[in-house]
Amino acid sequence: MKSLTVSAAAAAVAAALAVCPVFAADSMNVVSAKAVYSQGAKSDYLAGRHMTATGADCVTCHTDNKVSDSQTEIDVNCQKCHGSYESLGKKISAHAGHLSINSCTTCHGGHEASFAYCNNCHVFDMNMKFGRQKIPYVPQDLGIYKDAVPNRTEAADLVIVGGGGAGMAAAIEGARLGMKVVLLEKMPIIGGSSLLSTGGMNVTGSAQQKAAGIKDSTETFIKDTLHVGKGKNDQSLLRVLGDHSSEALEWFEKLGGELKLDPGVYGGCSAARMHFTPTGGIGKYMVRYMKPALEKSGADVRLNSQVVRLEKDADGRVTGVLIKGKNTGLYRINARAVVLTTGSYANNGEIVSKYHPEFFGMVTSAQPGSHGDGIFLGKAAGAQVNHLERVQVHPNIASGTSLMITLAMRTNGGILVNNQGKRFFNDNAPRNELGAAMLKQPAQKVWLIYDDAVVAKRAKVHHGYETLGLVTEADSAEALAEKLGLPAKAFADTMKRYAGFVKNGKDEDFGRKELPEPLNQGKLYAIDVVPAIGGTLGGLRTDTSTRVLDEKGAPIPGLFAAGEVVGDWHGEDRYGGNAVTGNIVFGRMAAQQAKSLMK
Ligand SMILES: Cc1cc2nc3c(=O)[nH]c(=O)nc-3n(C[C@H](O)[C@H](O)[C@H](O)COP(=O)(O)OP(=O)(O)OC[C@H]3O[C@@H](n4cnc5c(N)ncnc54)[C@H](O)[C@@H]3O)c2cc1C
Ligand code: HEC
Ligand code: HEC
Ligand code: HEC
Ligand code: HEC
Repeated sequence: MKSLTVSAAAAAVAAALAVCPVFAADSMNVVSAKAVYSQGAKSDYLAGRHMTATGADCVTCHTDNKVSDSQTEIDVNCQKCHGSYESLGKKISAHAGHLSINSCTTCHGGHEASFAYCNNCHVFDMNMKFGRQKIPYVPQDLGIYKDAVPNRTEAADLVIVGGGGAGMAAAIEGARLGMKVVLLEKMPIIGGSSLLSTGGMNVTGSAQQKAAGIKDSTETFIKDTLHVGKGKNDQSLLRVLGDHSSEALEWFEKLGGELKLDPGVYGGCSAARMHFTPTGGIGKYMVRYMKPALEKSGADVRLNSQVVRLEKDADGRVTGVLIKGKNTGLYRINARAVVLTTGSYANNGEIVSKYHPEFFGMVTSAQPGSHGDGIFLGKAAGAQVNHLERVQVHPNIASGTSLMITLAMRTNGGILVNNQGKRFFNDNAPRNELGAAMLKQPAQKVWLIYDDAVVAKRAKVHHGYETLGLVTEADSAEALAEKLGLPAKAFADTMKRYAGFVKNGKDEDFGRKELPEPLNQGKLYAIDVVPAIGGTLGGLRTDTSTRVLDEKGAPIPGLFAAGEVVGDWHGEDRYGGNAVTGNIVFGRMAAQQAKSLMK
């Protein structure tokens, strides 16, 4: 991997600082870099502290005087003195997160302010030395790179843009097929929103379903997905998804993962087909196995590396990408094929509120870098972009955070009540309908209610919510109502009435079909929930072999896409559990397609 020499970068810094009177640097070498980095404001930061308090030199952190974009060589040095990320971890500590981090420099800056990456989603009081609590990640206008000139050019067979689930699947597959693969990720960690997936993976025709005696087929899967998506999905993509879903699960199992069948049935669907892990969220579990497989595959993974432009030749073929590396600047990689796996635009308020002014300022549960870069990159290269108005509102975000509470708490029995202690809708309705109903409740206050029988089915996840202080518990409905400030009698009546519906197998108030639990077993639990943007459904148009199509419906040579950047497969609402499956199915397929171009 190309990296910048410390002296060269220091020269650039010195040149930049020359206009700033405080840091007027005299010459362009390491000595002057030392002066710049260890004096004045720079000594307020971590590198300066190490240099004054421990006698560290530049090479103590920068082996060979190099600084790569991924900063991996710096992380290795931090860990030599301080130990690994896990070894530093306490209970709720920045060193005991669930993000599959092994990079110290995700949070600790050397010559800039440190910040706790955790607070992009949580609200922890993390006082970092030389730091601040949070830096916001905001969308960037990639249009400014239209005519930008790279400082160097590299070559690869396959470039993958975005290191979430779809990108990782594509990179592993591509490298295994013998291609020279470079995976570019703009954030300091890989995993994307995929790392946060909590529910599970939909598969039809799995060994797990067969063992449980559940009859299922691609046909019923398509029917159910169309039901959730209001018939607006591209059926040809769903057929590919259904037909390849059990193969995708087997592929993951070969990496070492083991998934169980969740008996819960997603609102209005006809079979249990979500596969999950009792150890917690599906996303972090998948990354736990995909990350080592990625490292072993030989793919070149670069962090802090944002793709800012697709390169095309005169014939319209995509020939590579322009990258903005955090430390090494703008460079180009020429490639035979490019796969866009950049995820959603859920954290791009400009796109979202253009179509939905009513969602202005709404939080999102997607990862902070979900800015829709792929939509912009694709569009600038002539791709067809559809239905950006399809934005998914998720009913289950813990109030005051951007934390999604898994829908499995509802599919497995939980209900929703408003501040009058009353149910107000079919609690297992598709997300968008439920989200809209929540917005209409008095003061928009809603609580998710469940009991120990539901906990027994998702114990690990529930205990996580407890650790975070999100859960209120009590021994009776009256006691819980008192703690939540709800009218006690109304709430107790609601619970009794609901238990009656479950006993008789019929929800007379809101027609909820699946009634797994009467909610009168052991303790009762409540989480204060609000709606938020869970993900986005619009995006690039692809054919059934992941080729990106232009305005006229013709494939753009050399360009592929997979994952949440692709539109049309989910229709108007996403069937929970389909995305994770699609990441593997379409991510791998994109790499296979790319390989077919190499002949
Ligand atoms: C809280 C939560 C829970 C969910 N639960 C489930 C579930 O249980 N089951 C399910 O099926 N789905 C679930 N989903 C949806 C699912 O996680 C996503 O749709 C899916 O993981 C998206 O995968 P992806 O690889 O396309 O995108 P991501 O995983 O978001 O990855 C995209 C990556 O591309 C990077 N990137 C973007 N632009 C650039 C650029 N210009 N250059 C370089 N890199 C770039 C991003 O930083 C990111 O890392 C959930 C989503 C959320 C937010
Ligand atoms: C305690 C470890 C540490 C020491 C000592 C250290 N650095 Fe760094 N350096 C970092 C980290 C971490 C980063 C990446 C994050 C950042 O830029 O703050 C970095 C980034 C850099 C970069 C690229 C980004 C930028 O700021 O331009 C340069 C150049 C650099 N260091 C030069 C130096 C020089 C010259 C010295 C010696 C005077 C030095 N560093 C000492 C940790 C260190
Ligand atoms: C050569 C060994 C060494 C390396 C390499 C090193 N450290 Fe340290 N670090 C130390 C020592 C020793 C201290 C205690 C210094 C002091 O008295 O404040 C320290 C202190 C710290 C502190 C606490 C500062 C304070 O004032 O309490 C942080 C945070 C830290 N290091 C993080 C890092 C990170 C992140 C890296 C990599 C970018 C890194 N260290 C690299 C040895 C090292
Ligand atoms: C997710 C963000 C994050 C990452 C990644 C991270 N740290 Fe920290 N670190 C913090 C925060 C926040 C603190 C302040 C104490 C706290 O709140 O836990 C801290 C404190 C420290 C301290 C001060 C002493 C202490 O234990 O409080 C040292 C030393 C340190 N980190 C080293 C490292 C090293 C080495 C790595 C990589 C193996 C690393 N950190 C990775 C966020 C992070
Ligand atoms: C991009 C958003 C995001 C970031 C960044 C993030 N979290 Fe979380 N965190 C979540 C979500 C969503 C959940 C609930 C779902 C789950 O358990 O995976 C969660 C759950 C948790 C839990 C309870 C469950 C468990 O696994 O123990 C803890 C503790 C936690 N996070 C700590 C951290 C720490 C520490 C960091 C920083 C290293 C961090 N989180 C960074 C989104 C995030």
